[in-house]
Amino acid sequence: MQTISVTPSPAAKPIVLTGDRTTGPLHLGHYVGSLQARVRLQHEAEQFLLLADTQALTDNTGQHRKVTESVIEVALDYLAAGIDPQQSTMFIQSQVPELAELSQLLLSFVTVSRLERNPTIREEIRLRGFERDMPAGFLVYPVSQAADITAFKANLVPVGDDQLPMIEQANELVQSFNRCVGQDVLVPCEALLSKVTRLPGIDGKAKMSKSLGNAIALGASAATIKKAVNRMYTDERHLRIEDPGRVNGNVVFTFLDVFEPDVVSLNELKAHYRRGGLADSVLKRRLESHLQELIRPMREARERYAADKGQVLCMLRQGTAKARERAAATLGEVKRAMGLCYFD
Ligand code: TRP
Repeated sequence: MQTISVTPSPAAKPIVLTGDRTTGPLHLGHYVGSLQARVRLQHEAEQFLLLADTQALTDNTGQHRKVTESVIEVALDYLAAGIDPQQSTMFIQSQVPELAELSQLLLSFVTVSRLERNPTIREEIRLRGFERDMPAGFLVYPVSQAADITAFKANLVPVGDDQLPMIEQANELVQSFNRCVGQDVLVPCEALLSKVTRLPGIDGKAKMSKSLGNAIALGASAATIKKAVNRMYTDERHLRIEDPGRVNGNVVFTFLDVFEPDVVSLNELKAHYRRGGLADSVLKRRLESHLQELIRPMREARERYAADKGQVLCMLRQGTAKARERAAATLGEVKRAMGLCYFD
């Protein structure tokens, strides 16, 4: 992890806010990209974890059931990965109307051309083939994300590198708002990037993604994990065991770089593979055993929580109530600073 000093005053704990769109269960890419960091951060910071159902709807209105049903799935993944509801506040975005109100106010501080310049949005528009048919809510989701962050006065946001433009835009909004009202009401934030910002898919494609069908879910069965590792590309020219093999671009090695804790033995393995005489199956069994060991406890914990969804909903209800209180306090300050307080 990058170490950043963000503590505004020596006594104050950093405030962390991050979250995920609820479009399906989480996978290993989420785990190494940010979930792992959140499990660690919950002991050092005050942490809010957002189940971003409203944001997920901005490009999934046709599949609103999938979005709402995934709220509990993502919560199960958080718990399975080690998020402790006593330490972290998990909450549901759509159930905190203060966030929608704050977004609405912030929208007046950004131009359409600035929204259209956001590189992540541009890439997503390209991937989804949106032209003028883009849902307006999609174009402005970075503003809603800025509301998510600023409502909690979060100063640290653990995210993947694709989210950096969102942080930049949030900070521009903070600056414009504060300048407009002449007070530091909203707080700027910093992104916290993990060392592994992007795990490739098992097919070697740039990003692990459920929709690309190249992901390993955190609740994957032992058989699924085995199949996924067996499907990974190695070096297509490494036909016989004696042949020298390529390490760069070899998906199994890319994964071993992330999941093999013994660097010395990994380097030996790479040298042996390059020389020739090392079977792909040896690499794959090594990787598989690490993945099985990592995922087994998560799968088991996930099954335990899934057996008592009422308890999980109760945690979410409590978390959401706490989040609402906090967001309402900031919204109150924002409205007062703008003079939107006629009856006080
Ligand atoms: N955009 C994030 C994702 O794609 C989810 C998200 C919504 C978020 N609001 C946020 C992340 C605020 C960090 C901070 O998963």
